[in-house]
This record gives sequence, C-alpha cells and structure tokens, in this order.
Amino acid sequence: MNPNQALWEKGDFTRIAETMRESGEALVQRIGIEKGLKVLDLGCGDGTTALPAAKLGADVLGVDIALNLVEAGNKRAAKHGLANLKFQEGDATHLHELPDKAFGIESSVIERFAGAGVSSKKISFVRDTFTFNFPGAPSMLVDEFREYYGPTMNAFDTAEKNGRAAELQKELEDLFDSQNKSPRKDATSIPATFLRVTVAL
Ligand SMILES: C[S@@+](CC[C@H](N)C(=O)[O-])C[C@H]1O[C@@H](n2cnc3c(N)ncnc32)[C@H](O)[C@@H]1O
Repeated sequence: MNPNQALWEKGDFTRIAETMRESGEALVQRIGIEKGLKVLDLGCGDGTTALPAAKLGADVLGVDIALNLVEAGNKRAAKHGLANLKFQEGDATHLHELPDKAFGIESSVIERFAGAGVSSKKISFVRDTFTFNFPGAPSMLVDEFREYYGPTMNAFDTAEKNGRAAELQKELEDLFDSQNKSPRKDATSIPATFLRVTVAL
C-alpha cells in the first residue's frame, strides 16, 4: 500500500477532526461560497470544510487518500441529507507538480501558478487562523493525537524504538500547554496559522 495512505488510514483522524469543526465552518463562511459553485476539497478528511460548503449550496467533491475518511465523509453527507456532497478516494500527488507542502510558502505558490501561465497579480495571500477546540486539558488532546492521529502515532512508534517516548510526550504536552489560549485549565483552544491563497482567474 502507498505509505502515505497507510499513514492517514492509521488511527482515527475523525477524532481529531472533531476539534476542527468550528474553525472549518467559520473558514467556509468567509470565502464566498455560494449556491451552485463547484468546490473541490482536496485532502478533505471526513469533510470538516466540505460539509459546511455543501450546506451553503455548493456542489462539493471531497477527495482524500484515506478510504476510511472517504467512508466517514459519505456517511456524514448522508446523515445531513446532502445530495450535493460526494467523497471519493484519490491521491493529490497524481496531479502534476502539486506537492502539498509548497502551498504554505508564497514564493512556491507564485512559481507553481506561473508555470500554469497565471500572473502573480492574480494571486493574493492572507495568513489566516484555524483553531483546534477540545473539551479537555491540553495533555488529554496530546493523548488523542498519540492514540488516533497517524503522523503522531508514527512519531511515537519511532520514539518508542529509541526509548524516547516519554521525552516526546513531555515535549508535546509543554508545546500544547504553551499554545493553549483557553482561560480554563480543563479546556483546550489552540490557534494555528495557515496560508489562505486566492487565485482570481
Ligand atoms: C491534517 S488532515 C486535514 C483534513 C481536512 N482538510 C480537515 O481540515 O479536516 C490531512 C488530510 O489530507 C489527506 N491526504 C494526505 N495526503 C494526501 C494525498 N496525497 N492525496 C489526498 N489526500 C491526502 C489525509 O488523508 C488527511 O485526511
């Protein structure tokens, strides 16, 4: 199996996605999605952004490499009665020249679109925020990641082999604690920055 697929099918990303629903919905509300718009949500998970986009009336196709997340997404679409929302399995790296990481760096985005004949004048960038909200202490959210989030599970597998799992746990707890903006000790709210790219054609 494709190792990237194995990584994302590991654990249960839907548990982590639960902490991202509010930000996903808020993001979709502010990017001008309207009825009839065709939306491709690439790397959609179980539909944190795809589902609210469909609720606004867009025709949404969610594509993800992890079959379990595609299934979870289609279940959520059915549960919400959204016939305009479909999820299917697909690998974004099969799109030519679109390595996912480059989309966080302005110069790479400009270069990639220039390769497709799009002028940099048509591209705008906003540093935006996505907040992870969890009804428990930061250390409990670390536990969720350790138990259900493929990339973190792999990191702990490696750390365990090297006898460094406790160290990794402590580093993550300190990190989550330091980033927690919730005024309560028994709740977690961690804002994360992402690059919002808009291309007007
Ligand atoms: C951090 S999750 C974000 C999921 C979703 N966008 C959200 O906001 O909840 C990254 C997602 O990208 C998917 N993914 C990773 N590599 C992919 C690839 N090459 N093609 C398609 N999906 C991919 C993973 O399966 C996972 O669902």
